[in-house]
Amino acid sequence: MDILSIDAMSDGEIAEILSRAAQFFAGNRGRRSAERLHGKIVFNLFYENSTRTAMSFATAAQRLGAAAISLSVERSSVQKGETLEDTARTLNAMRPDALVMRHRENGAPAAVALIMEAPVLNAGDGTNEHPTQALLDAAAIQHRFGSIEGLKVAICGDIRHSRVARSNAKLLPRLGAEVRLAGPPGLMPEGVPARSVDEAIAGSDVVMMLRVQRERLEEELGDGPGEYLARYGLTRERLGTAAPTAAVMHPGPMNRGVEIDSAIADDPERSLITLQVEMGVAVRMACLELVVGSAAR
Ligand code: NCD
Repeated sequence: MDILSIDAMSDGEIAEILSRAAQFFAGNRGRRSAERLHGKIVFNLFYENSTRTAMSFATAAQRLGAAAISLSVERSSVQKGETLEDTARTLNAMRPDALVMRHRENGAPAAVALIMEAPVLNAGDGTNEHPTQALLDAAAIQHRFGSIEGLKVAICGDIRHSRVARSNAKLLPRLGAEVRLAGPPGLMPEGVPARSVDEAIAGSDVVMMLRVQRERLEEELGDGPGEYLARYGLTRERLGTAAPTAAVMHPGPMNRGVEIDSAIADDPERSLITLQVEMGVAVRMACLELVVGSAAR
């Protein structure tokens, strides 16, 4: 089994990952694990920059007793013109037990999964999907609220370029949430009505802010950082219109003072941002255990 997109996962698999992740989290944030993947090898292949996703997948593998091996792509044969398919054939010949992959092109992990015999986990492909991020966001919401059913979740910012938004917009409604997507009109995907950020945040239980992905923008936004915050960002005033118990999320990396007021990001009452990172390890442990465990059966 691969983890490539939310749609390709069954309700049972999603439920199993969330419940195992909660167990790992409760067990001293995953430190108390039974090393169920002892002797296994997990390859990490990141063609795009990453701090949280790369490190938490590697940590998750090690906590399960597997060895995590990362290829530094900038020093690999990719720089000598090797195709992605040839890289996949090469890595497959080394018989890893799983391959975690991030790539700037939509569909690249799915293409590699056709070649690899081991399970492939999509750690973010272009503007397409980031399934384990959505799973860790769901796990963090569940931890905070007990259940996702009936919650209103505003996802605000650069929706057009966000694989995090795309995966969450698929996953959270399956778990019973109402998702409200909003952002600057030029940063909304085609076919999704531009809802104002004010409208989305009002009455929401969860406010998830997204980074403006300047590396994927064809033209520069006219707004300066302060102007973006005032027009579309999470300010104290906007958060004041959300539900009184509303939680704030951000997948990171954050641009403080652009999409989110810096003090809100650090507010221990409201911000789930550190919890998201902690859940990231637990969820990735659950994902690796599921796919590597099922491959071994
Ligand atoms: C996101 C990503 O890379 O898709 N970050 C993450 O994985 N935590 C979001 C982003 O880059 O803004």
